[in-house]
Amino acid sequence: MNYKILVLPGDGIGKEVIPETLKILTLLEDLFEAFSFNFTELEIGGQHWLETGEEAPADLIDVAKKNDAVFFGGVGWPKAVYPDGNLVGIKTLLKLRFDLDLYANIRPVKLYPGVDIPVKGKKPAEIDFVVVRENTEGLYVQVGGELKRGSKKEEAVDVRIITRKGCERIIEKAFQVSLKRKGAPLDGKKRVTIVDKSNVLKGCLFFRETFKEVGKKYPNVEKNFSYVDAWTIQVIKSPEKFDVVVTTNMFGDIITDLASVLQGGLGLAPSGNIGDKHAMFEPVHGTAPDIYGKHIANPLASVLSAKLMIEWLAEQRNDRELEKGGELIEEAVAQQLKKGKVRTPDLGGMAKTEDVINNLKEIIKYLYRKQK
Ligand code: NAI
Ligand code: MG
Repeated sequence: MNYKILVLPGDGIGKEVIPETLKILTLLEDLFEAFSFNFTELEIGGQHWLETGEEAPADLIDVAKKNDAVFFGGVGWPKAVYPDGNLVGIKTLLKLRFDLDLYANIRPVKLYPGVDIPVKGKKPAEIDFVVVRENTEGLYVQVGGELKRGSKKEEAVDVRIITRKGCERIIEKAFQVSLKRKGAPLDGKKRVTIVDKSNVLKGCLFFRETFKEVGKKYPNVEKNFSYVDAWTIQVIKSPEKFDVVVTTNMFGDIITDLASVLQGGLGLAPSGNIGDKHAMFEPVHGTAPDIYGKHIANPLASVLSAKLMIEWLAEQRNDRELEKGGELIEEAVAQQLKKGKVRTPDLGGMAKTEDVINNLKEIIKYLYRKQK
């Protein structure tokens, strides 16, 4: 089977980790005869805008819709700022999420053996949950305005939109994700935790009420309730309690950066933006201007995002061979981290981005031969 992938490296280290990750996918298609990929690469983002005056091709969404999935790096570049102060590239990222209706942002938080984290005493067997973040409404819909009297800004308003449809589908997704998992590390129980601020905010209360309603359809999944401020403590003290966490857009953005500390940092945090028809996969991290050009960015967040992409594509077409390819990627990443020899500086090593990929390719080839 052939899969058409739209590749958008974007800015900064996106230009480094994404092409390196494609080498892994190319290796897989060489090893497995059953599937192949067709990559279409387009330039988008701040650096592209500085060179050409264009943030993204006008037909980007049409092209995305013609592909089976989008593989995205990151956007945002220090000098690429519009006169109104907005960062070039963000509009494109949000447009992709909104126009493709990618309502579920799936962010697994899993600690692999061999990875050090700053939280004392927490082991890999205790950290394995997934955050399901609403991705198309909430505070990021960009409804709002500014009030200027004379020349100075006096006021700014952001409006948070929470709809029944938006709540229902993201909560439904969270329960579905839980059904496919093994439950929380603590007790093996399937458990969906809602993270909100429903003690103060109307939108959150609506989200919570909808959660209780939808939850009735899933009697075998435990429902757990947490206020976002309290959750930030719980997740550090007892991450093993969590299986699936569902939350609104901005809270999800913030708490997954926090949660990434439990998996070894942004260099290891993958994500998928998933809708009913389309999907886009991207590392959680941004464009890291501070390390761009040194070729030391950790490519594993992007590799693990590619694994999520493969898993999703395989599910769409019921392709068992492709699914095996995805499993191979994860197994290889786990082995590499466990051995601990080849790692980038963010994980305490001295390897370059390319070294990590070359080593990973060797492990994948070895594992593939072994299982044959
Ligand atoms: P960032 O994620 O780019 O970097 C934060 C810190 O983590 C930096 O010190 C960076 O060097 C490090 N880091 C990130 N990824 C790494 C990797 N793969 N390997 C090793 N170290 C890594 O976030 P920051 O600095 O807040 O933002 C930089 C730019 O990226 C901004 O323009 C921001 O708007 C954009 N951004 C874009 C996102 C996207 O396109 N989805 C998401 C987050 C930020
Ligand atoms: Mg973020």
